[in-house]
Amino acid sequence: MNKITIAIDGFSSTGKSTVAKRLAKALGYIYVDSGAMYRAVTLYAMQNDLIKKDCFDKQQLIAQLKDIKISFKFNEELGFAEVYLNGQNVEKTIRTLEVSQFVSQVATVSEVREQLVFQQQNLGKDKGVVMDGRDIGTVVFPEAKLKLFMTASAEQRAQRRYDELIERGDDVKFDDVLKNVQSRDHIDSTREDSPLMKAEDAIEVDNSNLNLDEQFELIYNLAKDKISES
Ligand code: DC
Repeated sequence: MNKITIAIDGFSSTGKSTVAKRLAKALGYIYVDSGAMYRAVTLYAMQNDLIKKDCFDKQQLIAQLKDIKISFKFNEELGFAEVYLNGQNVEKTIRTLEVSQFVSQVATVSEVREQLVFQQQNLGKDKGVVMDGRDIGTVVFPEAKLKLFMTASAEQRAQRRYDELIERGDDVKFDDVLKNVQSRDHIDSTREDSPLMKAEDAIEVDNSNLNLDEQFELIYNLAKDKISES
């Protein structure tokens, strides 16, 4: 059977990665979390004092991009590939609210985007990939056979994110998480380079009122149809 490319874009915390991971597993495809790559670059910038509150040394980050190596390694136990920054597993560290607070700024830098898009296209060159992000259907794989655009209200997304952070033991306030979701929505959709937008041929999935199984069923069936057409 032919393998296709599946692009899943949408706002922060719409549950893209949860459904994308499950879909990839069901189809025997690889899953790539492109947001994790922007988060890893952001973590590097934080660790090297290139970004902190009210200060972002964009030029230094651009100069040091050649020193940032991002890779993925499949974790059998978890069933998905974890992200590594210069050989260190950073899967957990990149999910903190601190990284979330800076990542949209880092993602506005065209040189960062260029490097990561190149790597993403390479990861998906053999098809059989489910990739989620903000510009996958518009920039990374404009020819993807199936494009989805996920939405849900900001409050619902913040609640999901808040629950996740609390569950992993992070000390966060709901209002801060909501503010972060709203601020990232704004920066992601108004930036000059590759803003978050629905590709013309993307199917919009509003999952405000869908549980995980319902979402998966819907998307899995769409994928199956596209695969049999290809
Ligand atoms: O999917 P996420 O929340 O982990 O993504 C983190 C940030 O990275 C998000 O605020 C915007 C940026 N991003 C992007 O600009 N392009 C992508 N393809 C993926 C993420």
